Amino acid sequence: MIASPPRIGGLDVQSWGDPQDPVVLLIGAPQGLSPDWRRWVRALVEAGRHVLLADALEAGDEAAGLRRLLTDISSRPAILCSAQTLAAAVPALVVTGPALASCLIVAGEAPVEATAPLDGLPILTLDPDAPADPGETADAVILAFLERQAPREALYYQAGSDPRTLRDALGCFATGVTVVTTQDEAGQPVGLTANSFSSVSLDPPLILFCLARSSSNLERFQRAAHFAINVLHIGQQPMSGAFARSSAERFDGVAWETWDTGAPILSGSLASFECATHQVVEAGDHLVFIGRVTRARFEPRRDPLLYFRGRYRRLHFA
Ligand SMILES: Cc1cc2nc3c(=O)[nH]c(=O)nc-3n(C[C@H](O)[C@H](O)[C@H](O)COP(=O)(O)O)c2cc1C
Repeated sequence: MIASPPRIGGLDVQSWGDPQDPVVLLIGAPQGLSPDWRRWVRALVEAGRHVLLADALEAGDEAAGLRRLLTDISSRPAILCSAQTLAAAVPALVVTGPALASCLIVAGEAPVEATAPLDGLPILTLDPDAPADPGETADAVILAFLERQAPREALYYQAGSDPRTLRDALGCFATGVTVVTTQDEAGQPVGLTANSFSSVSLDPPLILFCLARSSSNLERFQRAAHFAINVLHIGQQPMSGAFARSSAERFDGVAWETWDTGAPILSGSLASFECATHQVVEAGDHLVFIGRVTRARFEPRRDPLLYFRGRYRRLHFA
């Protein structure tokens, strides 16, 4: 193993393997690397991973130090940390974890509560006392987990492949999240979460969203002559969840108002667009609803709720 000491995030970092490969960042490894950690480094490099080992983080400044380090690594690394370092890693990864790292591997026994704040970050705990499956070494478990959570190779879709692969490919396009709404013929509010929102034209002012033919609200949107699109801010993630679940009670506890058409405008949204339905285009298993914007309101100060690779995200400035 050849080590060279670059500086990343203000820390000395030893590195092994090809810098073009996906990064695995080791933190809290025992001084001089114990035999287990050495074996892991070797196995990771042989499996095509670029391993970085950071200097000890400065006591009292661990979370900020780790965050600096993660921000300075050009791609989202996988993190391999010891159970003892977990307490320092968790505060650095709370909320922004999935934006900073692809996954977390904890070498050692870690109570479930310890990682509970890291919602959305895939975690593998290597409990040394847990009986391993016969023939399954810790190295193999780590590599299999990395292959799932931080694949090395690009994945391919071609016509006829599993639609899930196409979905995963499309999930590489980060979007905002909206709740599209209308009012049905009985005057009832209707709404669902949609990230298929796009601007279409400035003159005339047109926007669109795509509605699955399987939607229980398809006919309501088809019959209504109008709809509204509410762009959600980072604090409205629970609302996104509620409007994506099948429930008749989506508007319970939600503050909303109406403007000209009766389509619900969700209070406090990052932006709301009220539209007259301009055109509905049949497109495979979805209908494309194009609306002519008649009114819009937007909030200049809040951050958007984002959606990327099937998970909610927040803005992270490069
Ligand atoms: C982030 C996110 C984005 C979504 N985007 C869309 C979309 O663009 N179009 C769509 O038809 N469904 C979309 N869905 C799924 C619907 O919100 C979900 O299926 C909902 O239960 C449909 O409700 P309905 O059958 O009452 O219309 C999305 C769900 C989530 C969580």
